[in-house]
Amino acid sequence: MNLKNIRNFSIIAHIDHGKSTLADRLLELTDTIEKRKMMEQVLDSMELERERGITIKMQPVRMNYHYQGEDYILNLIDTPGHIDFSYEVSRSLKAVEGVILLVDATKGVQAQTMSVLAMAREADLKIIPVINKIDLSVARTEEVIEEIVELLNCPREDILQISAKTGFGVKDLLSRVIEVIPSPQVETNDPRNKRALVFDFEYSTHQGIIVYVRVFDGEIMRDDKLSFTAAGEIFKVLSVGTFKPVKTETDKLVAGEIGYLVTGIKEQSRARVGDTINNPAHPLPAFAGYTEPRPMVWAAIYPNSQNDFGALKQALERLSLSDSSLSFSEEASSSLGRGFICGFLGLLHLEIITERLKREFDLELTVTTPSISYQIIDKTTGKEATIASPHLFPDNLKQETILEPWAEANIITPTSYLEVILKMLNAHEALPMLTTTLSHSRSSLTIELPLRELMRGFFNELKSISSGYASLSYHLIGLREADVCKLEILITEEVEPALTRIVSRSRVNKDAEDLVERLKELLPRQLFVIKIQAQALGRIIASRSISAMKKDVTDYLYGGDITRKMKLREKQKKGKKKMQARASMKIPHDVFVKLLGSKE
Ligand code: GTP
Repeated sequence: MNLKNIRNFSIIAHIDHGKSTLADRLLELTDTIEKRKMMEQVLDSMELERERGITIKMQPVRMNYHYQGEDYILNLIDTPGHIDFSYEVSRSLKAVEGVILLVDATKGVQAQTMSVLAMAREADLKIIPVINKIDLSVARTEEVIEEIVELLNCPREDILQISAKTGFGVKDLLSRVIEVIPSPQVETNDPRNKRALVFDFEYSTHQGIIVYVRVFDGEIMRDDKLSFTAAGEIFKVLSVGTFKPVKTETDKLVAGEIGYLVTGIKEQSRARVGDTINNPAHPLPAFAGYTEPRPMVWAAIYPNSQNDFGALKQALERLSLSDSSLSFSEEASSSLGRGFICGFLGLLHLEIITERLKREFDLELTVTTPSISYQIIDKTTGKEATIASPHLFPDNLKQETILEPWAEANIITPTSYLEVILKMLNAHEALPMLTTTLSHSRSSLTIELPLRELMRGFFNELKSISSGYASLSYHLIGLREADVCKLEILITEEVEPALTRIVSRSRVNKDAEDLVERLKELLPRQLFVIKIQAQALGRIIASRSISAMKKDVTDYLYGGDITRKMKLREKQKKGKKKMQARASMKIPHDVFVKLLGSKE
């Protein structure tokens, strides 16, 4: 295949603007998948992705297309739209020459549209602007055209209008992809050159590491001896192939193509996204790697049975193979035993990982309250430590200075909601920085706020006060001094470390009241009284009790001697007291889940 007939591209968009649906239409139109075999959103292969209708893991696919008398290869990389997974987007953009920027005709340009567009521009990619869902009666296409023209500074004729659902306009879009996205450029023709960029990988028990690559130089085929530059590992290629969309073996992969290499390497830690594959006998300079993903929130995960510790470790290792943004290290707690403190890209990422651990590995787990990480500096010694587990946070903060990460967030909203949004900022310690007009009815607002506040339901609140119209994207901007303290929960007078959280000092009393009240609602009643207390800065600041379940031991006695009843009740009371003293209350797992309640 002539290089000039290859197009590598991605679809980028805000969540739910229709990327996966458009990918389905492209697969149909190119006969990559027969219509009758078409399941909705073919590229969302993970069970969880289908169930929740979101793309978590990107999935490359190769399509053949005949256009104006010539055969073309179109390599599409589908990408996730949720902000937690923007790291995946940045990876796929390194492997392509152009993007389709998809904007929902009913919603218009959203915060995530702006952030993915910024990534595409940074990678110097050709951008095809497309408005989707024009079949809907509530589409406000004209206004969205106005927004895109403003954003891209492009002529309005450049903006295509399609319906990924009905297929309207999709054929024209495919022609546009061929006409405007550049074919891959190969710089050298030296046959010793063999260079590829790893943009993803998976692990198979039989075949070892399978890397997903974009070949930039030369040809790669079976039995080639290649190396991972960063890992310094040499391997023999067992087979190569492309995604059609299932993996299909081919003779070779040539420069400009996207495909996979089976390495046979069983040492799972050898593969790294962003690494360069090279010919060790004639190495070319390595590509600049991707930026390492940075965890935004942390939570500890403990197996409910300590016997499952090894299984949990293996499961995390396995998941981190296909999700290099997941980080974890061992941690121990006096009441929860051995577990792992894990770093996530956001609350949705946390939910997805814990759900996968339970479903795919059949593990019963306790997940602690998510927290961001704090930098703690000892004022006298100057010693610094990073703490991501709230229960390890210092008790009284006379000795320490605490620093916390701040974020810059971009909110896109109908201008009519701007005022209520500005009012909400104060309660989240957020500072408004800049307001700009996007079109005659929509505005963009830039704010700065502590990451801690962003993770404290900021997004849900924003959605709710803007009737779902406002959208948000953010990135970290550095550390600032924090006025926070540790809030601990005691259940039957014992600290429950999994419920410890770090809160703003100005809100500690209210948070304590809310938390004990919520726990009172959630914890199941027992035969004894359960005392729930909140403690901060060395004193109890809120308390509730759940009364004991009533079971009258005299129920079976009809009439008769009252003193006998009294004696029996007295005995029951003593028994309950004894039980209470002994009781260490096991918190049901669903209580932790309900407390999490992050439907971002
Ligand atoms: P993520 O993968 O989670 O980022 O979402 P996505 O951008 O892939 O969106 P997806 O394709 O899952 O579409 C979101 C919803 O919009 C689904 O319910 C689709 O059926 C619907 N949808 C997509 N395109 C169209 C369209 O052209 N018209 C209409 N009416 N609905 C559409």
